[in-house]
Amino acid sequence: DTATLGLYGLGTMGSALALNILDKGFGLYVSNRSAKAVPAFVDEARDEGLAERLTGSDSLEDMVKAMPAPRAIILMVPSGRPVDSTIDTLIPLLEDGDTIIDAGNSDFRETRARTAKVEDAGLTYIGMGVSGGEDGARHGPSIMVGGTPEAWDAVRPVIEAISAKFEGAPCADHLGPDGAGHFVKTVHNGIEYADMQLIAEIYGLMRYGRGDTPAEIGKVFEGWDDGPLGSYLVEITGKVLQATDTETGKPAVDVILDAAGQKGTGRWTAIEAIRMGRSASIIEAAVAARALSSEVGVRAKGEDIFGACRAAIDLSDEILHDALLVGRILSYAQGFRILKAASEEFDWSIDMARTAEVWRAGCIIRSVLLDDIASAFRSDLPEGELIFAPPLVDRLKAASLALRKTVCAAATHGHATPALSSALFFLDTMRHARGTADVIQAQRDFFGRHGFVRLDGREDQHGPWWDDAG
Ligand code: 6PG
Repeated sequence: DTATLGLYGLGTMGSALALNILDKGFGLYVSNRSAKAVPAFVDEARDEGLAERLTGSDSLEDMVKAMPAPRAIILMVPSGRPVDSTIDTLIPLLEDGDTIIDAGNSDFRETRARTAKVEDAGLTYIGMGVSGGEDGARHGPSIMVGGTPEAWDAVRPVIEAISAKFEGAPCADHLGPDGAGHFVKTVHNGIEYADMQLIAEIYGLMRYGRGDTPAEIGKVFEGWDDGPLGSYLVEITGKVLQATDTETGKPAVDVILDAAGQKGTGRWTAIEAIRMGRSASIIEAAVAARALSSEVGVRAKGEDIFGACRAAIDLSDEILHDALLVGRILSYAQGFRILKAASEEFDWSIDMARTAEVWRAGCIIRSVLLDDIASAFRSDLPEGELIFAPPLVDRLKAASLALRKTVCAAATHGHATPALSSALFFLDTMRHARGTADVIQAQRDFFGRHGFVRLDGREDQHGPWWDDAG
């Protein structure tokens, strides 16, 4: 049986997704915590000629009662407690064969726990990452589904229909069980944070190092959108930098407080990376930069005490373009490394190529690079590492000097470039067979007799400092 569709939560994203579902010809039941939003939404749908297959209800209870079974109910409520309380309300109302779909930015650990709880109650649960903002939700988001294969089969037609398309193929797929979909969305957002930070740093070098105006920089970004940096984030950066504040006539960015908000998903990527004993250093740098940006008063005091030190730099558009490209390749690679590590830890079997393909359209990090990355994952990767894929190696070899020059100039002239610097540090670490952790191991052994592996393969060895000590 095809499930009847319901959607609970008519906020900006919920309304947009509901219109998208109606637009694709599906019937839909809707409701909202505050009942006022329901007639308003029905009016909106009517204005768009989409009210024919729509049923609005004043409460979740009424909505469920109105829906013939089997039901599939999409939750578009804020992540965290509202998801739990909605599930608690739904469980006694639903019956065998019904499905709850959480389409918010939920923590994958909560999704795992909720899956177990909902399945215990004899129902089906799907944790679904949705990316693309309001416009994406309305006209085609990228959708990352976690749940059982049977749960996916039941909702697949509607999810594929409402998703973005890349050359006709839906940017939606079932990527693994329980928390897999939400984890993929979390990593998507980690990459989103890194890419936004890399772009902001390149902007900073142009603005405060070269003295370019926001509009001039915006034009450069607009041009870059046509090449290998082609992407939604580069495109919108070109637009925001060329926009003018209607009240003051100043560049729009010049009236915005430079303190970045964050709801948590980027931070979760960094936390999970560290928890697994791995590193997503560029994403970590981006999360740190957002945190430090919020300390507006402290930074102002710092400028009073130390004095500002940003000096003029001479870096061409070409160099900065290549630096951004290398930074982007490396931050995507770090995101996929974390995805792979988590997939192994939780036994999710996430298909990296499919993930890259699902991200090619509809989502915030969509970019031409993701098509190359999808192809790279479909070929043989040395050591399974994306950065060793021959086409990416060629790009990294050709452009990494630009990243080095950029980071050098930034450091020499006092510009903070945490994400670009982390990208360079990652590349320089991964290209040296022998690093400096021998000293760390020696120190650990010296103070704690922790032992080390000798280069000849013998394990649990100790240094001469212990023999000396008797
Ligand atoms: C998306 C976005 C979206 C996210 C915003 C805000 O993929 O559509 O990632 O899900 O909520 O980007 O995130 P922050 O508030 O953490 O910046």
